[in-house]
Amino acid sequence: MIGRLNHVAIVVPDLAAAADLYRRTLGARVSDPVDLPEHGVTTVFVELPNTKVELLHPLGPDSPIAKFLAGNAAGAIHHLCYEVEDILAARDRLKADGLRVLGDGEPRIGAHGKPVLFLHPKDLCGTLVEIEQA
Ligand code: CO
Repeated sequence: MIGRLNHVAIVVPDLAAAADLYRRTLGARVSDPVDLPEHGVTTVFVELPNTKVELLHPLGPDSPIAKFLAGNAAGAIHHLCYEVEDILAARDRLKADGLRVLGDGEPRIGAHGKPVLFLHPKDLCGTLVEIEQA
């Protein structure tokens, strides 16, 4: 059911330093920072040949990643995002297998303008997983 790995998201304490690390040291193609106020993050997109890395930093007082950063001061992997063809069909199948969908269970529009859902990390090997309708 899941398809391509769309991105790996990494929460970082210093977005400029992390962007510089990926651009200069690792030699990747790196975007300018993009504020996504509706998601409470500023993100830098790192384009790799086969997937993306998203560097995330909290934006605003109610950022959903503020606590995560507080507990991971050096930064850490936050979630993986897998592509699915039909997000409602994927959701229903996962729920039928006992996986917990976060929030109200309805897809929201994610950082790429496409519908996404997040799945409880305790049901997926300790990893927060985002599914995105590609
Ligand atoms: Co994501």
